[in-house]
Amino acid sequence: MQIKINNKKYTVKNGETILDVCRRKNIPVATLCSFEGLSRGGACRLCLVETNKTEKLVTSCTTKVCEGLEVFIESEKVQKARRINLELLWADHAGKCVTCKKNRMCELQKLAEEYRIENFHFVPRRGEMTSKEELNLVHDNWSRVVVENDNPCVSRNSEFCVECRRCISICPEKKFGFNNRAGDVIVGTPYEKVLDCSFCGECVRACPTAALTDQNNLEKIASDLSDLKKLSVAVFDFGILDKIKEQIKNITPEQNLEKLFFALGFERIINLKDEDKNREDEIIKNVKTTDAKREKIDPRNIRTFFISSKISKKAQKSEFLDYVLTDREVARLVRDAGKIVTGKIKNNTRL
Ligand code: FES
Repeated sequence: MQIKINNKKYTVKNGETILDVCRRKNIPVATLCSFEGLSRGGACRLCLVETNKTEKLVTSCTTKVCEGLEVFIESEKVQKARRINLELLWADHAGKCVTCKKNRMCELQKLAEEYRIENFHFVPRRGEMTSKEELNLVHDNWSRVVVENDNPCVSRNSEFCVECRRCISICPEKKFGFNNRAGDVIVGTPYEKVLDCSFCGECVRACPTAALTDQNNLEKIASDLSDLKKLSVAVFDFGILDKIKEQIKNITPEQNLEKLFFALGFERIINLKDEDKNREDEIIKNVKTTDAKREKIDPRNIRTFFISSKISKKAQKSEFLDYVLTDREVARLVRDAGKIVTGKIKNNTRL
């Protein structure tokens, strides 16, 4: 069957949504709640489009294609509605970006920049609030914020949640859902208990903002990396290099990962190969035992980092493994290091 998008004809398959077709044909549509591999959407209403089938705007992620369909992605009506929906989402976050873990890595921030959301029509900025009612309202919102850092792998902060439901849909163990009722609804774990699961990390990967992030003390890591008395060794998991490149592409033009790692303060890099699969524990142990002995280095002065997307590894740190960093956390270190490429480079060597 054929449909028209922005007056151009496209051949489409039965059962596809308008968004499926747009993605297949590389036609940009703003989205937030929709995520690769998830069928559920319809929550953020950013993907609104106009069609010839109804007066109302429809969400492209849930509307299936049909015979004779004509779609307009960027009509005036669409742009106005999308802007309002984005402003409503953005109003909750405004002003928090500078200190946010996901600064420059956040999907909502990117959309707000793209649509130049600068005015606040719905919520006054903190300094603009004068009445007692307004201040009470803000206090009420803050009292519902849930921050949880008690599990070893995932950090939760509901202040950044945009209720896109990606975590609810993607979690294979169904650990997330809605808490409270009516206007007080927030996404969280049942009764806001400490997250307890196999820590596959899918929820962190899917979260568009900083509501779910990798658990770590990046300040301590950055300080260890800059300590010239310590030898920092990075062990790259198999297949992680492409993921890191994907994460840093908007942060730095530098795509040479070895150069970036040395500039971050790592002195040694071990790249796991096909044949090393499932041998990471043994290889990491060797760094602090066999290799340290051979090179006459006190193992207490060696810091080992496993760079992997397996966030469950964070729960399995040992005397041989000091830190587990995901591709997202590497990107944060690169971001925080600023002019990293010209930074001080320690003695570059390889094991
Ligand atoms: S992407 Fe369609 S409603 Fe969110």
